[in-house]
Amino acid sequence: MADAELTVHTEAVIGHVDPAVHGHFSEHLGRCIYDGIWRRDGDEEVGYREDVFQLLNDIELPVLRWPGGCFADDYHWEDGIGPREDRPRRRNLFWAQGPEELPEESNAFGTDEFLEFCEEIDTEPYLATNVGSGDPQEAADWVEYCNYDGDTELANRRRKNGREEPYDVKYWGIGNENWGCGGQMTPEQYADEYRRFATYVGTTDNLMLDHDLELIACGFEQHEWNRRFLEKVNDSPWGVEFPLDHLTFHHYYGRTMSVSEADEDDYDTFLADALEMSDHIETIAGAIDAVATTRDIGVIVDEWGAWHVEATADNGLEQPGTVLDALSAAAALDIFNHHSDVVTMTNIAQTVNVLQCLVETDDDEAWARPTYHVFDAYAPHQDNDAVQTTVTTPSRDLEDDRDLPLVQGSASTDGDETFISLTNLDCREAQTVDVRVEGATPDSVEATLLFADNDPKTEVGPDNADEFEPEPTDVDVDGNTISVDLPPATVATLEMT
Ligand code: AHR
Repeated sequence: MADAELTVHTEAVIGHVDPAVHGHFSEHLGRCIYDGIWRRDGDEEVGYREDVFQLLNDIELPVLRWPGGCFADDYHWEDGIGPREDRPRRRNLFWAQGPEELPEESNAFGTDEFLEFCEEIDTEPYLATNVGSGDPQEAADWVEYCNYDGDTELANRRRKNGREEPYDVKYWGIGNENWGCGGQMTPEQYADEYRRFATYVGTTDNLMLDHDLELIACGFEQHEWNRRFLEKVNDSPWGVEFPLDHLTFHHYYGRTMSVSEADEDDYDTFLADALEMSDHIETIAGAIDAVATTRDIGVIVDEWGAWHVEATADNGLEQPGTVLDALSAAAALDIFNHHSDVVTMTNIAQTVNVLQCLVETDDDEAWARPTYHVFDAYAPHQDNDAVQTTVTTPSRDLEDDRDLPLVQGSASTDGDETFISLTNLDCREAQTVDVRVEGATPDSVEATLLFADNDPKTEVGPDNADEFEPEPTDVDVDGNTISVDLPPATVATLEMT
């Protein structure tokens, strides 16, 4: 008898898995942009890093959010366009205070560099506007610079800067953490600001814009904040429904854990923290349901991932890349599938070098972290329909009275193939899992296993990065049951026809 069972109800569709649910976030902080995506040699701005480009281009990276984070609400986009030698150096209140740990912003990487990078790696750009210290005119001008095809000064400035065709940027964020670094606003204040910005950035009958913009409002992990914001934003004497397509929250976890000092109990606590993602999604979706009953507003997890106390850089933004983090990513991607009826996008923080990055660099090379392999392995879920799964799993009692369910999983289908992902969050023991497929009988199953030979907290670096790559594995198939052995701290995927 297996330790755990996952039943896949192939005909019970939860929702479509928007590819954007596997999205990413890159901010101007630490070595994410400079020395990450963009190469710098001393004071010389060299250009895109070929090695990072290659790694990101090799996976399905559907959407990339930029330029922040807190950075966005003190960023003025016009500083970052035009001839590079003429761009002003600036401080940024949050992440470029200068001079050493948080170096001043050179603005060498700006709107055109970001949008061209997105085109090259075939990803949808998502721009976060400055609400905290900016104004609606600045935000509307940014939309015009990026998206307008007519004969205006801003559209012509884009052409002069080398880009003839509009970029057609679809996703526009109205601020970031406006309850905190984005202006310390109350929900009501932010609702007022949101309506001002939405009027100029994205009103759909604005004749200038025949683009299908999607506007993203900043929410919070707390029901009350979201409820008050949504009530106020809807409170228009004209009965106008302001464009509001998505509401966001951020979920960082592991903030009390030092990776090098952690023991197995700490792993459990960390993973239980990561699983709280599910409650947060339900909280924000609950507020949308309660208040915005006539509107179709998606949930975006705008920033998420592990943020440990241990820093490997003076700025506190770099941390070891481990299998433990990768397990949390796998569990989160499963949770997003379970909530595919409401979740429209998520962005793990942050793509290169910072926090739970996928790719890390030194001066000479770039390498993939275990989390990179999870995203790659889970990519077949993108654009599928997520279907219901029920899991029976052993769980561990934690000292803080929570339970850690040890086996997680999710499934999706494109109509022909069913794709199943499984994670053993138990860093001590192996788990055998029977996957029962209801409504279909497997013809063939291709399985891969990640991290079977790795200790959960071995740090990945340039010399051992290839030890974390997925391996094909054997599974037993008997009728509609697939039996999988999951060593401690591993992830498996099953592609079933
Ligand atoms: O990702 C780092 C920071 O975390 C972002 O700037 C901010 O939005 C969040 O608090």
